[in-house]
Amino acid sequence: MGSQTLANEFLTEGSSKLRLSATLEINERVQERLNRGKQVVHLGFGEATFPLQKDVLEAHRVASQDTSYVSVAGLATLRKNVAQFQSRRLGCPISPKQVVIAPGSKPLLFALFDILRGDVMLPRPSWVSYEPQVVHAGKRLFWVETDEEDRHTITEASLNATYDEAVAEGGDPRILLINSPSNPTGQAFSEATIEIITRFCRKQSITLISDEIYSDICFTKEFQMSACANGRINTEQTILTGGLSKTYSAGGWRVGFAVFPDTDFGATVQRTVLAYASECWSAASAPAQQAAAVAFGITPAMDQYREQVTAVHQHCTFRLYLALKDCGLAVPEPKGAFYVYPSFHPYARQLEATGIHTSLELSRWLIEECGIAALPGSVFGESDTGIRGGRYRLRMATSYLYFRDQEERYAKGYELLQCTSKEGTEIELPLLDEAIAALKMALSKLNAVR
Ligand SMILES: Cc1ncc(COP(=O)(O)O)c(C=O)c1O
Repeated sequence: MGSQTLANEFLTEGSSKLRLSATLEINERVQERLNRGKQVVHLGFGEATFPLQKDVLEAHRVASQDTSYVSVAGLATLRKNVAQFQSRRLGCPISPKQVVIAPGSKPLLFALFDILRGDVMLPRPSWVSYEPQVVHAGKRLFWVETDEEDRHTITEASLNATYDEAVAEGGDPRILLINSPSNPTGQAFSEATIEIITRFCRKQSITLISDEIYSDICFTKEFQMSACANGRINTEQTILTGGLSKTYSAGGWRVGFAVFPDTDFGATVQRTVLAYASECWSAASAPAQQAAAVAFGITPAMDQYREQVTAVHQHCTFRLYLALKDCGLAVPEPKGAFYVYPSFHPYARQLEATGIHTSLELSRWLIEECGIAALPGSVFGESDTGIRGGRYRLRMATSYLYFRDQEERYAKGYELLQCTSKEGTEIELPLLDEAIAALKMALSKLNAVR
């Protein structure tokens, strides 16, 4: 029996559409090249790799014998520290009761899409997992178009156009997800944009899910505004998600959180997420929660760590951005996280002549011919039709440009973070230098195409 026939016989309709994550193909190609003894410039993965903050590491070590299930909502100390941290950040009181801890923010997003009514609006491009989660939940997805010309921001016109189109097509748009700073674009929303988004959600009675997993890694105050700030977390139909994976380089420990509004709406959704969690994942790992309680603490040591991590990411993404711009690519200046999102469309003629017509083909060419791994825009929902933009966009993650291996991560990592606090110290990143040299070489290959 063919695999499709088997899927039709044994799987539900929703689950038969699930595929292994889009990052898999690039992963396999990277491995294949490494096995052949070839070098790879690794811009394919958005996994934070700084050494763990020492108090966080120690807390995990001390708690490693905690093997009991903890409560579904999470450890009391962790919920308290998340609430305090988010209260400071958002400038409004948040109670620990509003916080739910889970094994990563991904399952929380999955649960939210599953339990909330209505169809979903997502900015295009968006992180790889939202679309499959939405589809699996049996919902329709409506893209909110963005443009590199204005840094992939969301406009009132694009929100209204998507909403009207969804309604005209018989959809029931009741959820909007935003992610600022964004994976894949590295862009973040201004206060004015947040105002537009929250006004739109209020007017159309739309639940806003604000994925703020990169919110500590913001490069300028101007683009630091949260949709949940100014008291909105407690007055609007808004849910905030975040976690330990990015700022604290502890993705594998699997700790994420959601903050729900202190309203009847918030309590209803939270109660159902907790019931969902109790039947699905029970609780996040106890030692990881103990460590996360330290990580989210408002202490001078943790504040310094967050600042240092942000400074290195800013330095690295900015240098990569400048290099790409110098090579003639269309690329908006990054405002946060650890991604740069260039489009190769200024090289459309050379790409066409090389037989490259889509972002997937471009990413394959880049790894096979130039040894550079980057993810194609199509996995973030970009369209392969049309000359400008999406067809030739790639996401380049800078998070693997710091250390060659685990040994170097700990041998050099703390010193690298310290560099940002010492006046006049150069931040040296040999892997970034190699990446820039490889990209220049790739672009010179394209320039040579007649
Ligand atoms: C935009 C975005 N949201 C959510 C997640 C999920 O993070 P975690 O489940 O590790 O909290 C990721 C991880 O890559 C991400 O990039």
